[in-house]
Amino acid sequence: MVLLAASICTRGGKPVISRQFREIPRSRVEALLASFPKLISAGAQHTSVETDAVRYVYQPLEDLYMILITNKSSNILQDIDTLHLFARTVADLCRSCDERDILRNSFELLGAFDEIVSLGYRENVSLAQIRSIMEMESHEEKIQEIIERNKELEAKEELKRRAKQLEMQRREAARRGAAGFGGNVGYQGVSGRGYDAVPLQSAPVVRDTGAAPAAPAAKPFKSKGMQLGKKSKNADLLGAMGSDAELPAAAPSQPRAAAAPAAAASAPIQSSVATVDPLELLPPVAQQSIHLVVKERVSLEATRDGSLTSLELKGDLELRITDPTLAKLRLQIAPSVASALLAPDALTFKTHPHVDKKAWADSRIIALRDPAKPFPVRQNLGVLRWSATTKDETAVPLTINCWPSPAGDGSGACDVTIEYELEASHLELLHFNLSIPLPAGVQPSVVECATGDWSVEEDEQGLPRLQWSIAEISADADSSGQLEFSVPSGVDDVGVLFPVRVAFVSSRTMSELEVASVVSAESGSAVPYSTQAVLSAGNYIIA
Ligand SMILES: *[C@@H]1O[C@H](CO)[C@@H](O)[C@H](O)[C@H]1NC(C)=O
Ligand SMILES: *[C@@H]1O[C@H](CO)[C@@H](O)[C@H](O)[C@H]1NC(C)=O
Ligand SMILES: *[C@@H]1O[C@H](CO)[C@@H](O)[C@H](O)[C@H]1NC(C)=O
Repeated sequence: MVLLAASICTRGGKPVISRQFREIPRSRVEALLASFPKLISAGAQHTSVETDAVRYVYQPLEDLYMILITNKSSNILQDIDTLHLFARTVADLCRSCDERDILRNSFELLGAFDEIVSLGYRENVSLAQIRSIMEMESHEEKIQEIIERNKELEAKEELKRRAKQLEMQRREAARRGAAGFGGNVGYQGVSGRGYDAVPLQSAPVVRDTGAAPAAPAAKPFKSKGMQLGKKSKNADLLGAMGSDAELPAAAPSQPRAAAAPAAAASAPIQSSVATVDPLELLPPVAQQSIHLVVKERVSLEATRDGSLTSLELKGDLELRITDPTLAKLRLQIAPSVASALLAPDALTFKTHPHVDKKAWADSRIIALRDPAKPFPVRQNLGVLRWSATTKDETAVPLTINCWPSPAGDGSGACDVTIEYELEASHLELLHFNLSIPLPAGVQPSVVECATGDWSVEEDEQGLPRLQWSIAEISADADSSGQLEFSVPSGVDDVGVLFPVRVAFVSSRTMSELEVASVVSAESGSAVPYSTQAVLSAGNYIIA
């Protein structure tokens, strides 16, 4: 059986959604669907109709049709069975099967379609299995939504804090104007060492800025994985429409703007760090026809006296095959490393739904459930993901300590010492940046910066930040360092100097997950491949 496409279209033959399982241009599918209504005679009870080229297997879905377009040489009984599974899945995911409801659920529907058919072949799945896969994913999505919401709250808190701070500065200035010098040790009570209250985020914050939002036109594989919830929906929907989906009005549903407000709200506190693809900061690697990338991102929140609030590590293994003749393969992942920062059992792994879970669980092998099938080619395919969260301080790769010492005389002056120390001696951190918010309009004077360079940059709102950059931090080079500076005014509350943000990249990861070998699934012989690993700091902040 070769299933070319699964589509839902109107009685007039206008596609509502369509998933192509083989390389067929969008225009071809549109033409096939447009000609479909003319082929079926009114009132006829058939469930299939053929042309010279293809067979349609169809079933009404209220006012729409669920249609499978198949190769004429396919097994029609099997196709009808598959059609029923499609129709039941659609009914399961949509309350009513009208056009609006289908569009509203298009992302989930296309995801489910991919569970039923892969590369044109029916997967051995039942409705119950599809349901549980979809529930699993929507659970993940819910978590993502919670994280997004926390980010929004955090952004609002930050704005409030900034506004309050400006207001305090204004009042201070007004008072100073009125009272002249001195005598104004304010009731704000500048505290001695400054461990005073800043809004503490209630949840670990994850910002997957690096996860490329560009979902490749992932044909047989869903790329919902690591992306941030809604934003990717539209991209994926476009991707789902086939290879020539560049038509501007391509998405049948107008792009959902739902993600935009959240993104806008969290933008204000996003500093300029971590907006580039971390891989681009590392030396390039000569890529072979099989290229594997281990991507890891560590997010961390610590308090200013250095204690850890939360640490989260997220990783994924991307497979990119450029030579279709090599696409039937198996990856052997090396045994977990005991020396890694995280205990091996701290990591939770998840394989792509099409990957053989048993082979993974038994022997750390990544293979397709059906070994006769090739991996999709020319796309970055996330085959394995892992994550870990911990509050264990020994997992922290790089500690940062901040010591603000306000003058305490009401002037708002403050001396600040910041130090870092590399804890993970196996890592070489490159392009290290540490950025500290400064009170508006205040020029800091740097007392000591023996390691690296400093500069004053502006963030998106034009607020100044002191940026400290160090080319390399490793066991051999500047494994610890200190920056000392003072600001003459504006620090009535040391909270202005936080959160401090840190960025870096490393070509070794925290999990130290490695691919041991790649072999042909057919012959079992080793296949040459190239690999690359990158660890980057996601939301690495001291609050
Ligand atoms: C349909 O099947 C025939 C025979 O297996 C094959 O030659 C043809 O290329 C297939 N058509 C499509 C569009 O896959
Ligand atoms: C399909 O899955 C069922 C249950 O998971 C299993 O019993 C059956 O052998 C599978 N069939 C094929 C052809 O793999
Ligand atoms: C640190 O800042 C420099 C200059 O702004 C930038 O080129 C570099 O990419 C940053 N490092 C990271 C890890 O983002």
